[in-house]
Amino acid sequence: MTNYRTIGTAALGEGGPEVGVQGLGCMGMSFAYGPADADASRATLERALELGVTLFDTADAYGAGDNERFLAPFLGAHRDEVAVATKFALAIPPDDPARRVIRNDAPYIRQAVEASLKRLDVDVIDLYYMHRRDVNVPIEETVGVMAELVREGKVKHLGLSEVTAGELRAAHGVHPIAAVQSEWSLFSRDIEANVVPAARELGVTLVPYSPLGRGFLTGSFTDAGQDLTADDFRRRMPRFTGGNAVANAALLEPVRAVAEAHDASLGQIALAWVHRQAEVHGLPVVPIPGTRRPARVEENTAATRITLTEEELALLEPIAEKVAGPRYADMTFTSAGRE
Ligand SMILES: NC(=O)c1ccc[n+]([C@@H]2O[C@H](COP(=O)([O-])OP(=O)(O)OC[C@H]3O[C@@H](n4cnc5c(N)ncnc54)[C@H](OP(=O)(O)O)[C@@H]3O)[C@@H](O)[C@H]2O)c1
Repeated sequence: MTNYRTIGTAALGEGGPEVGVQGLGCMGMSFAYGPADADASRATLERALELGVTLFDTADAYGAGDNERFLAPFLGAHRDEVAVATKFALAIPPDDPARRVIRNDAPYIRQAVEASLKRLDVDVIDLYYMHRRDVNVPIEETVGVMAELVREGKVKHLGLSEVTAGELRAAHGVHPIAAVQSEWSLFSRDIEANVVPAARELGVTLVPYSPLGRGFLTGSFTDAGQDLTADDFRRRMPRFTGGNAVANAALLEPVRAVAEAHDASLGQIALAWVHRQAEVHGLPVVPIPGTRRPARVEENTAATRITLTEEELALLEPIAEKVAGPRYADMTFTSAGRE
């Protein structure tokens, strides 16, 4: 199935810049998913760009700045060809480096953007997201500060992650929001109820994170507690361990059947489904699957050329409502947890 043609493009927000219709999630290169091979990760970045991927996703929280620093040489070598997206909001308290505190206040944002610019070694951040919502700060205030960063030339476009439809509308009233980044996959469809319709109405692009269900939808692991290394974040996620993992693995059967019909991998079908949501919901959708391996970026970008039939979509439709376990142990900081 895999071939190596370049992918199409999509706009980041109404009238916004065009980026490759699939981005690359870079988090795992420094954080969360066990040991990474730096050389393979660098080769993955280069291969992604060759295939038409131009949106590279990171956050200051990924490895406490390590992921941004890791991307800097790649960005320096290709600054005019790529868009870098990073995020603020998960602050490290000085007295407890292992903890994270959500902060959306002006002094925090101002120091966070300077730190990200320095670590990324760029003059301007193409897309700057609020990573998590601090409900103690009015969203209008937070986006007001983010809009100042645009006027000052530190940031080009604004994004929000895990916001409710109401928060998105309020934010968009202050400054145009180019993108909402939230979890969206065959396993996680809660944003379809309110967030996706609001994004369509406002001309906001949807950037689905974890479109491969953090790897689970590829069939590459079943029980995180047994199959993944001790430091892997997925061992603490309710869907991926014990009885939930066994039940959820059984849900992959229709994905496997569709994959066989297309001579494709399970992951490619999971990604083809996310790409298809652009047509289903009538808005630009730019998923950012994460990988640290060049062969997988070839496989994942090739999924943009798989068209699922209506019958196949119907076969995949019931999966999400049967998933055992929430997508995070604590759902209060997700949009669904506040709606
Ligand atoms: N805004 C937020 O709150 C938030 C939250 C989570 C993630 N994100 C962003 O979204 C990006 C993507 O999400 P994610 O990394 O959590 O999940 P994902 O993209 O659903 O899955 C990534 C996992 O799938 C594996 N994988 C990728 N392609 C594969 C393939 N073709 N076959 C088999 N396995 C494959 C990767 O392993 P290898 O790396 O070993 O290939 C990795 O373990 C992240 O990198 C990050 O930038 C944002």
